Amino acid sequence: MKLILLGAPGAGKGTQAEVICQKNNIPTISTGNILREALKSGTEMGLKAKTYMESGKLVPDEILIGIIKDRLSQDDCKNGFILDGFPRTIPQAEALDTMGVEIDAVLDIEVADEDIVTRMSGRRVCEKCGSSYHVLYKQPSVEGKCDICGGTLVQRKDDHPDTVKERLEVYHTQTEPLKEFYSKQGKLLVVHGQEKVEDTIRLVLEALEDLT
Ligand code: AP5
Ligand code: ZN
Repeated sequence: MKLILLGAPGAGKGTQAEVICQKNNIPTISTGNILREALKSGTEMGLKAKTYMESGKLVPDEILIGIIKDRLSQDDCKNGFILDGFPRTIPQAEALDTMGVEIDAVLDIEVADEDIVTRMSGRRVCEKCGSSYHVLYKQPSVEGKCDICGGTLVQRKDDHPDTVKERLEVYHTQTEPLKEFYSKQGKLLVVHGQEKVEDTIRLVLEALEDLT
């Protein structure tokens, strides 16, 4: 399965990607995680991305297209993959087409802007593996520790309410046009994110049933 996850920041793309990836045994490629990793290890790419990310802006297309080209050429992507956070602009989507990547479906997770701001303030992420938790909606079994790798859970810098508002604006202007782009290709599946993570998971798996 070659799947794109689309949705506002905090819509739950990373959370759903974890479930789909385990069920189908395919890798998740999260451009946000790749960039955060690069930032942490202080690479040239990470340094370039830093100011964009921390202010909630998009990192330039050419950097992201380079990352994806490189990642999709690796062996573990042969049997499918989930793209979480890419494409985020029309030029990025066109670049995928130019690379000859045939996507099976684009799953759009819809959540209202008001709910996004609340969600983001309660999100905690594992500093080691990037898994996502929530102080109310998705608590780890041991407080402050990741269930998957035992890493420490921290708050992301760009989850500050002002930055979240900027990210939402960027989403509506630059990323949302992708819905029409993929709808025209007959690939768009829409799921409404529910209040409970488990309920959204059920709807997502139902929407993907015909693809697996
Ligand atoms: P990225 O990391 O991709 O951020 P994002 O798209 O803003 O998405 P998030 O990771 O914030 O949210 P999510 O939808 O994965 O939600 P999650 O599952 O964690 O990108 C960060 C930055 O990198 C960008 O701003 C940009 O600068 C740069 N970048 C990345 N890709 C780029 C690209 N292609 N081009 C240019 N720049 C790029 O869930 C959120 C919270 O809600 C969690 O706490 C979760 O537990 C909780 N939750 C999830 N589902 C539910 C539910 N149903 N009910 C209640 N709570 C829920
Ligand atoms: Zn972890």
